[in-house]
Amino acid sequence: MTETTIVNKLFKEKFGTSGDLYFSPGRINLIGEHTDYNGGFVLPGAIDKGILAEIKPNGSTKVRAASVDLNETVEFGLNESDKPSASWACYIFGVCREMQKRGAVIGGFDTVFSGDVPLGAGLSSSAALESTFAFGLNEIFKCGIDKKELVLVGQKTEHNYCGVNCGIMDQFASLFGKEGNLIRLDCSTMEYEYVPFNPKGYKLVLVDSVTKHELVDSPYNKRRQSCENAVKAIAKKHDNVKFLADANMDWLNEAKADISEEDYKRATYAIQENQRLADTVIALKKGDYATVGKNVFATHEGMSKLYEVSTVELDFLNDVAKECGVTGSRIMGGGFGGCTINLVADDKYDNFIQTAIARFTAQFGKEPKIYPVKISDGARKIG
Ligand code: GLA
Repeated sequence: MTETTIVNKLFKEKFGTSGDLYFSPGRINLIGEHTDYNGGFVLPGAIDKGILAEIKPNGSTKVRAASVDLNETVEFGLNESDKPSASWACYIFGVCREMQKRGAVIGGFDTVFSGDVPLGAGLSSSAALESTFAFGLNEIFKCGIDKKELVLVGQKTEHNYCGVNCGIMDQFASLFGKEGNLIRLDCSTMEYEYVPFNPKGYKLVLVDSVTKHELVDSPYNKRRQSCENAVKAIAKKHDNVKFLADANMDWLNEAKADISEEDYKRATYAIQENQRLADTVIALKKGDYATVGKNVFATHEGMSKLYEVSTVELDFLNDVAKECGVTGSRIMGGGFGGCTINLVADDKYDNFIQTAIARFTAQFGKEPKIYPVKISDGARKIG
């Protein structure tokens, strides 16, 4: 049975009718990690895996939501005090509340949803969930909220209802994704440009370290705090600096005495990463994949040694990639688990995949998962 059939069938069984079908994808990010909340650039793309939801207004003031994958159904209202206890349902509740805060009138609805974006792999399953409901409810209840504002609906859902102080990259990629294109997004202005990505002779592949990636209660929020501490110190002398992306290493060095060594390391990474992304986009447009790859490896180094969001498993996969002659490899997403993203020349591909599986399994006693990447379209109605 396809995912659509499963969702349709369960919806019919539970609610005796059928609704509209919406889909939003997860994302990859080629480079520009932890730069979004620092006012910098990112370079994500939507993937062909995501969350599918069937939705239909039910004429009441209650939401009845069923998750196929968790085999759970919850019911909740739409007032602030109605927050559901199941953590997955908070994403849907949060989206409704954030839309209401923007003037949307949302009635009760029934929904069944399912996903094929691996959970906890750093592929933004939560953004896919938020975007599916933000996009779908916006159409169904004719709220008229524009797509950039829907990005903020998803982001604020994370901040206010799920405990993660994330940036806008994941939700933006999920809503604005375009087949065959990465998105060069300026996170301080939300201006963006599609960058065609069809590297002839190379493949993009994710290797999942199958170690849990959970940003809630993880040191993600602490990283963000470190960057804000550095901005405060720099802004004492340079009051136009609102984000680390506005600063440079000289200014950070001037402020070094005012911040902890840890905050200095975090800020160094964030400033360097923003510059790396700019260089990478230039290289990409020239088809210079050697430079792209070199930068991708440098990002791994920074995320591992300066930002310290890597894991033993991810560092191991990065070393294997180097040994197999992979063009570029790095930890992808927020960190603390999840996948590496790898740009691999066609003739090195099979050997890399076999070696990564064999070496990782021998070392950690569990098999990594392999996801070839297909850059795909963003949120849409599919039925
Ligand atoms: C998570 C967050 C994003 C971004 C990345 C790191 O995916 O949700 O906003 O900060 O981590 O680049």
